[in-house]
Amino acid sequence: MNNFDRYAHIIGWGTSVPKKVVSNQELSEMVDTTDEWIESRTGIKQRYIADNTETTASLGLKASKNALDVANISPKDLDLIIVATCTPEHNFPSTASIIQDKLGATRAGAFDMNAACTGFVYALSVANQMIRSGAFNTILIVGSETLSKIVNWEDRSTCVLFGDGAGAIVLQEKNQPGGILTSVLRSDGSGADLLKVPAGGSAMPATNHTVENNLHAITMNGREVFRFATRVMADACNKVVQQADMTLDDIDFIIPHQANKRIIETAARNLNLPLDKFIMNLDTHGNTSAASIPLALCEAISNQQIKDKHNIIFVAFGGGLSWGATLVSWDMTHTKPVNQIWHKLRRQALYGFAKIRSTIRRSTRKIEGILLKDDSTDIDKT
Ligand code: UT7
Repeated sequence: MNNFDRYAHIIGWGTSVPKKVVSNQELSEMVDTTDEWIESRTGIKQRYIADNTETTASLGLKASKNALDVANISPKDLDLIIVATCTPEHNFPSTASIIQDKLGATRAGAFDMNAACTGFVYALSVANQMIRSGAFNTILIVGSETLSKIVNWEDRSTCVLFGDGAGAIVLQEKNQPGGILTSVLRSDGSGADLLKVPAGGSAMPATNHTVENNLHAITMNGREVFRFATRVMADACNKVVQQADMTLDDIDFIIPHQANKRIIETAARNLNLPLDKFIMNLDTHGNTSAASIPLALCEAISNQQIKDKHNIIFVAFGGGLSWGATLVSWDMTHTKPVNQIWHKLRRQALYGFAKIRSTIRRSTRKIEGILLKDDSTDIDKT
């Protein structure tokens, strides 16, 4: 098979959200806002908010396990794990490495990708190229965020918008045409200041001042981001269908980044498409950044909205400024029956072994460190 016969198909998907749901009403008891304002300006009614035990890696891990169940593959089949996130577990190591360890994906490379809310679309595009080039066969892509941990809970203009959650998909090489068809990726860094977390990076390392002044939290010029979003959504959709030699008539659904219902309505008007072609779940989830498209995709699959051979556009925008779109031809021939209980039990066992393996490796490293301490001092002396 030459590389021209390689196509990247979505063969598995899964989600995970925190246990706690916070309604608009509850938020109105914390900041000066109302249920009516939030719903009428954004379409959001509630969002999931992580507790102290729920993190970007733990949500991403659960979503990944669910995606591997649907794909019915072993974690050892994974060649690569990409986590799209702007709220990573740490600056480094990557959240992807933490998920790789906990899955026991011992053959996989792992890295994080930060294109803010456009992260999932960027990750899909990169993974597609890696599969089509012949470099990798099976890639896990996770969009996972805990934005509640970087929100200023006293700033009503941002804290009402965001939520936490994770969605994951498995992409695998197949020789039948279809799957990820084409992508458009764009950036305009002149708008970098419109949506950002000012401190915590090399430009403004953490100090008492940054903590006292809430500079580790999201700041946003909402109106400007709104204007930018309405401009680029339609443009990216038009470009991605042109690249695939299709027209908008060929598109069955658009799954947009779930930031604001009014942005999606404007995009629908600009594209001259009915709103029911747009999958939306921001009423229940709020804006979950890089997780929002896979969360909406999984909900649409479980509602049986998405059918075999549907053409679907994923379109996103966000901090950077960044934006992009990916066109997918949905192909059910590669999804196996879900309830393969023995395979599931085997995967559970592998996760158990992964935990033991990780513990042994950590302990071995510690013991080696103690035993080799004198030797390394000798090396230093030479
Ligand atoms: O994932 C990508 C990142 N983010 C986005 O996509 C967000 C894009 N922007 C938006 O969705 C909208 O701009 C917002 C929802 C953030 C704001 O809606 P808006 O219609 O653009 O409101 P605005 O910023 O023009 O503010 C209107 C008024 C202001 O009061 P004044 O100055 O007119 O008296 C705000 O202070 O609404 C006020 N306001 C609020 N009032 C009640 C802002 N936030 C709130 C709030 N509750 N939570």
